[in-house]
Amino acid sequence: MTGLTDELKEEMKKHTGFSQDQIKEHYDEIAEKYDAIYLNAGYHDPLHCANLVKEFVPNTPGTEIFDMGCGTGLVGLHLKEHGYNKIVGCDASQGMLDVASLKGAYYELKELFLGKPDTYPQEFHGRFDAITAAGILAQGHLGVEVFEEFLLSVKKGGYIVFTTRTMYLEEFGYGKRIAEIEAEGRWKQVKEITFTRYDKLEEEVGRYRPVEVKAYAYQKLV
Ligand SMILES: C[S@@+](CC[C@H](N)C(=O)[O-])C[C@H]1O[C@@H](n2cnc3c(N)ncnc32)[C@H](O)[C@@H]1O
Repeated sequence: MTGLTDELKEEMKKHTGFSQDQIKEHYDEIAEKYDAIYLNAGYHDPLHCANLVKEFVPNTPGTEIFDMGCGTGLVGLHLKEHGYNKIVGCDASQGMLDVASLKGAYYELKELFLGKPDTYPQEFHGRFDAITAAGILAQGHLGVEVFEEFLLSVKKGGYIVFTTRTMYLEEFGYGKRIAEIEAEGRWKQVKEITFTRYDKLEEEVGRYRPVEVKAYAYQKLV
């Protein structure tokens, strides 16, 4: 049984078209209602990402994790529950970051527009033990160039944890680029899981319907 109210369903129907040109405005507008919509629809990506971090990344006092496209901070919340306390988040939408700051899980939150590896801020290079990227490899969101930013961010031996719809692996070329990076010997897959997103929906709402998603953990090799 979904807890989605008619008001939230109407909000979801409005948010069908995405493009990077309007992404900030889109998420600034939805920010206050994001958690109610996504959690009631059955959005499990943040929990799976946090669980993969817990499985692979030892939690020592210095362990630092970068949640890229952190949105309202759902990944951070789960990481905090798992005991991680040095979590940095970034997102293009200040509205989403404002909601994330209320979660009390991040010690640093940055407004940052991802997808430009050539000008990726030096302060993030080679800094993190792991990065997470839940729900940002999607239609109108990040293209394959963000994989370079993932790799730039982690230390050698660090972990890169992300989710995407299975169908997007081919549709947006993510699968091809993931395999190329592996063939180049720059990362290796340590885990892949499959689950259903939006499984609490009893009916299709706008573009939202139950859909198969992959969560991956890769280890940076060089
Ligand atoms: C579906 S939400 C996922 C948020 C969060 N990771 C989660 O799992 O709840 C997608 C997020 O990606 C962010 N985003 C989209 N394009 C971006 C870009 N180019 N740079 C940074 N953030 C971006 C949006 O602002 C939004 O917060």
